[in-house]
Amino acid sequence: SLETVYVQQWLERKVTQALCEAFGEEVKDVNPMVAIASKPEFGDYQCNVAMSLSKKVGMKPRDVADKLLQRLHPLLQDVFEQPEIAGPGFLNLRLRKDYIGGRISRMTEDGERLGIPKTGNPKRVIVDFSSPNIAKEMHVGHLRSTIIGDTLCRLEEFLGHDVLRLNHVGDWGTQFGMLITYLREKGFTAEKGLGDLQIGDLVNFYKQAKARFDEDEAFQTASRKEVVALQAGDATSLSGWSILCEASRKEFQVVYDMLNVRLEERGESFYNNMLSDVISGLKEIELLKESEGARVVYVDGYKNKDGDPMPFLVQKSDGGYLYSTTDLAAIRHRVQKEKADRILYVTDAGQSTHFDQARCIARQAGWVPSHVSLEHVPFGLVQGEDGKKFKTRSGDTVKLRDLLDEAIVRASKDLRERLEADNKPFTEETERTARIVGLAAVKYADLSMNRESNYRFSYDKMLALSGNTAPYMLYAFARINGIRRKIGSEIKLDSSCKIILDHPAEMFLARHLVYLPELLLDVEKSLYPHRLCEYIFELSQRFNQFYENCPVANAPSEEEKKSRLALCSATANTLQLVLNLLGIDTVERL
Ligand code: ARG
Repeated sequence: SLETVYVQQWLERKVTQALCEAFGEEVKDVNPMVAIASKPEFGDYQCNVAMSLSKKVGMKPRDVADKLLQRLHPLLQDVFEQPEIAGPGFLNLRLRKDYIGGRISRMTEDGERLGIPKTGNPKRVIVDFSSPNIAKEMHVGHLRSTIIGDTLCRLEEFLGHDVLRLNHVGDWGTQFGMLITYLREKGFTAEKGLGDLQIGDLVNFYKQAKARFDEDEAFQTASRKEVVALQAGDATSLSGWSILCEASRKEFQVVYDMLNVRLEERGESFYNNMLSDVISGLKEIELLKESEGARVVYVDGYKNKDGDPMPFLVQKSDGGYLYSTTDLAAIRHRVQKEKADRILYVTDAGQSTHFDQARCIARQAGWVPSHVSLEHVPFGLVQGEDGKKFKTRSGDTVKLRDLLDEAIVRASKDLRERLEADNKPFTEETERTARIVGLAAVKYADLSMNRESNYRFSYDKMLALSGNTAPYMLYAFARINGIRRKIGSEIKLDSSCKIILDHPAEMFLARHLVYLPELLLDVEKSLYPHRLCEYIFELSQRFNQFYENCPVANAPSEEEKKSRLALCSATANTLQLVLNLLGIDTVERL
C-alpha cells in the first residue's frame, strides 16, 4: 500500500505503535531510534530503541528487544522479514524481496510519479530566490540562487505542496535617485519618455550614472531630491523608474527562459507602503531603539567586531527605509496574507546574519506563529578555475547570458567532434541536444556540489563525459532508455509481472531504486540538492553492475527477461524523474 513507500517514516510509526502495545502509552513519545543500517550485514534498517528504553522500563535491553519484537513482527510482516536481535539488543530489519519487487513493478507502471503519493498534508511553501537587482549585474551568485531555488520548488511541488516562487527583485532604493537623475540629464521627460535614448545595456548605464554621481555635487543633490520625489509618488519619477525596471526585466527574462525557470516577480517596491507599519509595530512593543539618530533593533546574542551589541538598522536618520525593513515587511505579508507555512530564502552565505536577525525580530514581534518556519538556504561563492573571483579574461564580470551561451557552444563542439568520428551528420536535432546538454551541464555542476561550499566554475569539468556530470547522466539515461526501447518493444510490462531479485546485482539495484521516496523527504528537510545528484550517480553505477552481470535480452528465461526489463524501465524512469527535479531535460539519443 502507498503508506509504506516512505519506509523509514512508516517504520518509525510502527515501532512507536509496538512500543505502546508492549509497554503502555507512557512510551508513546520515546524516539523510536530507527536508522538506515550502518552496514549491509545488519540489513536495511536498524532500531536501537531497546538500549535507550531499558532504564525507563527497568528491563535489560535484550529483554526489551524481545518484548518489542513480538509486537513488532506482525505489524511489519508485509514489508520486512522476521527482525533479528543482535548484540545487546539492536533490532536488524531486512526488507522482503517480494516487497521490493512489488515496488519495482509499481515504478514501471507509474512512470511519472513512480508510485510516490502526494502528501496528504499540503503546506504553503514560499521560495524567495533568484532576486537580482534592477539596473545592476545579474551575477553568478544570482545564477546559483536561481538554479538551487528552482530545484527546491520543483521538489516541493512534486511532493504535493502549494509553492509560491517569489522573485524579490531589488527594484527600490537610493540607487534610483541617481539613475533617474541621469535619465533626465540624457533627455528623459514625462511627455516624450525616453525619446531616442537607448538604455539597452543597463549595466553600462548604471556605471555612467555612478560616474556622474561621483564627480558632480549638483548631480548628487538632484539625486537625493529624486529619491524623495520617487518615494512620494511623483508621476515623472515613477515613469522613469518603471522604464528602468522594464528594461532590466527583459534582460532577466532571457536568462530565465534559457534556464526554463518560472518566477513571480514581487520586488522590494511591493512592500513600500507596509514599511511605516513595520516601524510603528516595532515601536509599540518597544523593540525599536535610537542609535545616532537612526532607528535600530538589537537582537540578543549578536555582537559586532568590537563586542558591542550589533544593531539591525530599520530606518536611517533621514527617515529612509532599508533592505532590512523590507524583509521584515515581507515576512509579515507572507505569513499574514500569503498564509505561508514555510519560507525559504536562497541567497549567498554572506546574508546569513541578516536573515537570522530578521527571523529573531519577527518572532519576538509575534509576527510569525510557531508552526511557520523561516529558513535561510545559504550557498558559497562561485569561483574561477583558479579559485579566484569569477571574471572574464579581461577582468569584467561575466554576463550570465554569455556564460550560458558559451556552455552551449562548447557542448555543441564536443558533440560535433564525436559525430564526425562516427561519420554521422550534425543535424538540427543535434543542435537541440547540444543546447540541452550545455544548460544541463551548468545546472548539474552547481547542484552536484554541497551548496555550502564554494564552487569552481569549469566548463571542462562540467562537460566531461565521465564522473558525476550532466553529460554522463544524460548518456546513462539515453542508454538505459535505448535498452528498454529495443528489448521492450515486444514485451508488455504490467503490474502482474513478477520481479525476480535472485542475483545480488539485481537486488543491489532494486534496493537503491526503492529508496527514492525517502531520499526526497531527506532533501526536502535538509535542502541539499547535491544528494539528488549523488543518488542518481550511484544509481547509474549500480545499473552498470547489474547490466554487466545480468543479461537482459538473453536472459535465461522469459520470466527473467521481463523482470530485468522492468528493472531497466524503473531505472530509466527514476533517472528521468530526478533529472526533472533538477530542472534538466533528458534526450532520447545522444
Ligand atoms: N537582491 C538581493 C541580492 O541581490 C537578494 C534578495 C534576497 N531576498 C530577500 N528577501 N532579501 O543580494
